[in-house]
Amino acid sequence: MRRSFSLLLQNKPGVLLRAAQVLTARGCNVEDLRVSRTEDPFVSRMTLEAETVAEQTSLLEQLRAVPGVLEARDLTSPAIGQPREAGDLVTLQDIEAAMTRIRGSIPVTPLVLSEWFSNLTGSSVYFKLENLQFTGSFKERGALNRILTMTLEERARGVITASAGNHAQAVAYHAVRQGVRCVIVMPEMAPLTKVVNTQAYGATVIQKGGSFDEAVAEARRICEAENMVFLHAFDDHEVISGQGTLGLEMLEQCPMLDAVMVPVGGGGLLGGIACAIKAIRPEVRMIGVEAARVPSMMRAREMRSPVTVSAASTIADGIAVRRAGDRTLPLVEKYVDEMVTVEEEEIAKAILLLLEREKTLAEGAGAAALAALLHHRVDLRGKKVAVLICGGNIDVMFLSRIIERGLVKDGRLLRLQVFLPDHPGSLSRLTQMIAGQRANVIEVHHERAYYGVNLGDTMIEVTVETRGTGHSDELISALVSAGFNPKRVV
Ligand SMILES: Cc1ncc(COP(=O)(O)O)c(C=O)c1O
Repeated sequence: MRRSFSLLLQNKPGVLLRAAQVLTARGCNVEDLRVSRTEDPFVSRMTLEAETVAEQTSLLEQLRAVPGVLEARDLTSPAIGQPREAGDLVTLQDIEAAMTRIRGSIPVTPLVLSEWFSNLTGSSVYFKLENLQFTGSFKERGALNRILTMTLEERARGVITASAGNHAQAVAYHAVRQGVRCVIVMPEMAPLTKVVNTQAYGATVIQKGGSFDEAVAEARRICEAENMVFLHAFDDHEVISGQGTLGLEMLEQCPMLDAVMVPVGGGGLLGGIACAIKAIRPEVRMIGVEAARVPSMMRAREMRSPVTVSAASTIADGIAVRRAGDRTLPLVEKYVDEMVTVEEEEIAKAILLLLEREKTLAEGAGAAALAALLHHRVDLRGKKVAVLICGGNIDVMFLSRIIERGLVKDGRLLRLQVFLPDHPGSLSRLTQMIAGQRANVIEVHHERAYYGVNLGDTMIEVTVETRGTGHSDELISALVSAGFNPKRVV
């Protein structure tokens, strides 16, 4: 039987030779062998294809026993080079095989019980922290599984994809680590940090196209012209199987879960997880969460076929997918109990609460499932609920805007306009009143020419930090009682 192996070898004389001797002694006919560098200067990767007669487990054990062989894996079973028909549904066996393949390279992320969110919602809330993956999201699972199931011939051709986000970084990181050439096409307006990160992982980044769709078209063109392998972000059997490993992992960590809430873009993540969990514990409730502005999976479920919804911007850019996948929809139809949507402000609030209460940094898509739980899209009181925090790649400038807006909404930041006579002592009287109410002045702005200010008056715009809505209301009442006429800026 033809098999593919991957070995990590110490760069010492004789290690490669001794590994090859084991293979030949076990009757393997090596047909294709490549050695590539890894990011560790003392370690190389050897990939090979061979006709084998030996029983696979003991062969791997013998290879691992060779001094200097750090890792030996059989990449064959069961998916290498196997054509997947469009109608082939991912199965539990595919996900288990993916787990075996990626286990050594993808860390198990924590599933932590949050006391604070449990008290707030009445559920036992467990956060699955995929934002802690090296490139900041779960995407590594699917990308690595796909790369590890490529034939040596496919590996030699290299991979290409179009993405401006988490998929790009995951593919770049794992392709390069596996010694596979990687090209990522990003739209011209992609954030600079994402371009720089993806390049830093070793991928060639091509910026082309004014929109994501144009970047995809360019990636497809290059793929065809250069005979590369296109690595789809979600509508791919091995990618879905890789994402499904999260389902196995969560059940291992907390076997008695009642419900799992998962953000949905194209549906690879939800489809894979739901397939794994329902196969093992069909009674677990599976809930998919979309951004209300781009509800493509919900529409696809209603229409029983993927449909393209209008483009819209959302702070959950990772799940702003306009069309559900042809492979993912059947999985969602078969295994998912409910699909719900969340609004922009709800996502922003979830990001802020996660940061404040759990010290967890989530991006918009990563906080969508929590937003749905917090805003009662489903009634899960008294239940053990796993909430997937699937990514943490958020631009810091954007994060600072979310924090500021959240504080304003919570009444913890308050801006007031107050008209005062423009003479010495007026401002001091105002700030003393504010200090007397134990609010903290953050910013003061004087205006004499605009806002219809009378000659001889000044308008003071003052921003203060308070303990919340109640405290803000108390401060305004105290100012009114003292003869000021404050106007709240909204
Ligand atoms: C952080 C994050 N969450 C969720 C998703 C959705 O994954 P899928 O497209 O497989 O539904 C993505 C996709 O890029 C993502 O980046």
